[in-house]
Amino acid sequence: MSQLDKLWGGRFQEPTDKFVEAFTASVSFDQRLYRHDIQGSVAHARMLQSVGVLTEAECLSIVKGLQEILAEIEAGSFEWRQDLEDVHMNIESRLTSRIGDAGKRLHTGRSRNDQVATDIRLYLRDAVDRLMLQLRQLMEGLINLAELEADTIMPGFTHLQTAQPITLGHHLLAWFEMLMRDLERFIDLRRRINRMPLGAAALAGTSYPIDRALTASLLGFEAVCENSLDAVSDRDFAIEFAAASSLVMMHLSRFSEELVLWSSAQFGFVDLPDRFCTGSSIMPQKKNPDVPELVRGKTGRVYGHLMSLLTLMKSQPLAYNKDNQEDKEPIFDTIDTLAGCLRAFADMIPHLKPQRQRMRQAALQGYATATDLADYLVRKNIPFRDAHEIVGKAVRYGVDQGWDLSVMSLDQLRQFSPVIEQDVFEVLTLEGSVALRKHRGGTAPERVRQAVKEARDRLRGI
Ligand code: ARG
Repeated sequence: MSQLDKLWGGRFQEPTDKFVEAFTASVSFDQRLYRHDIQGSVAHARMLQSVGVLTEAECLSIVKGLQEILAEIEAGSFEWRQDLEDVHMNIESRLTSRIGDAGKRLHTGRSRNDQVATDIRLYLRDAVDRLMLQLRQLMEGLINLAELEADTIMPGFTHLQTAQPITLGHHLLAWFEMLMRDLERFIDLRRRINRMPLGAAALAGTSYPIDRALTASLLGFEAVCENSLDAVSDRDFAIEFAAASSLVMMHLSRFSEELVLWSSAQFGFVDLPDRFCTGSSIMPQKKNPDVPELVRGKTGRVYGHLMSLLTLMKSQPLAYNKDNQEDKEPIFDTIDTLAGCLRAFADMIPHLKPQRQRMRQAALQGYATATDLADYLVRKNIPFRDAHEIVGKAVRYGVDQGWDLSVMSLDQLRQFSPVIEQDVFEVLTLEGSVALRKHRGGTAPERVRQAVKEARDRLRGI
């Protein structure tokens, strides 16, 4: 292509260096924006017609041309050219070759700077909507499983040591709460994505009598960006997206870590469906939890994208700089990674097979009801610190004998305190322990069933 063929070739006397052309081109990755680029151009053309900058015939021909280009791209017959640098110039140049001079008028009152900022916001808005649906699907799966496992007793951990008995339903609802906050963050940041840069042109706005409100409403933007310099330059909405995505990944990674532990032979708390695992080429007994491991592993790349985007912005003077072309790959990969991980989890969770007996056995092993015994003594008027001491001795005895508190006889327990009576067994059992914690936020089966209902309503309500 001769230099004069470049859409901006007018002031140039020598062709772009071939390496520089390849180095500065973004079409290999920004072609993903084609649908939103066309959507933005159609709205811009309609607005230009409505304010009298384009004739009706010009506008019709532009819109039709763009629709044909959309079909070409989707059919795979569009030829993407690196010498045309990016998605915007590829499409505009094709438009002009299809419809002639009217195509050259599309860019009136617009710059690639406000165009690309618009495209990326439209793209991200759609992506966030899809991700939120996936998140909701996973959350529903968690609620359903929590309902089924409201009575399932397992050890709760602190420091990964058995702490107190809890119900699996309650544990699963903890994951629901984390994802609920993630969902709220997406809903919130979507509002800030949903502002329209078009009209800012290169940086200073345009001298044409544009109607930004019209373009914004055609594109479903909630409002326009209020300052043209800010509109073309900031990518804070993308940073927010990467930050919210990093938090989702952090949560999924913790969740993954538990699934990896829980599905091991040592824990044996859950069985992952075979189709989410792989075997070993050498060790025939192996069933590896690859999916959660990979989700845990992919967390790092999303954190990396957050760092890339923050660093990309931090030293840019106003307004647009070419640096911003580097926003796309981190954004796209964050979307793809999150979509994949959410899909894996949403598919996997409804098919988890909790091993109720194993969980119960484990809860019986770590003196999980020691706190309940102390609380029992306090109810018999023993100061908590003394109660703590008494139970500590009873546990010590249990460790020496190899017995859990709940299997000791009344006489054995009474060695440690004469106030202990037959009713102690109501709190020393696992069921007794969890049933008492029936306050809001507690682990009792009765409360979990209530929380499940509320979770369903809350999810529907946002
Ligand atoms: N490909 C560019 C980007 O992604 C489009 C905007 C280019 N603007 C410019 N003045 N060179 O940011």
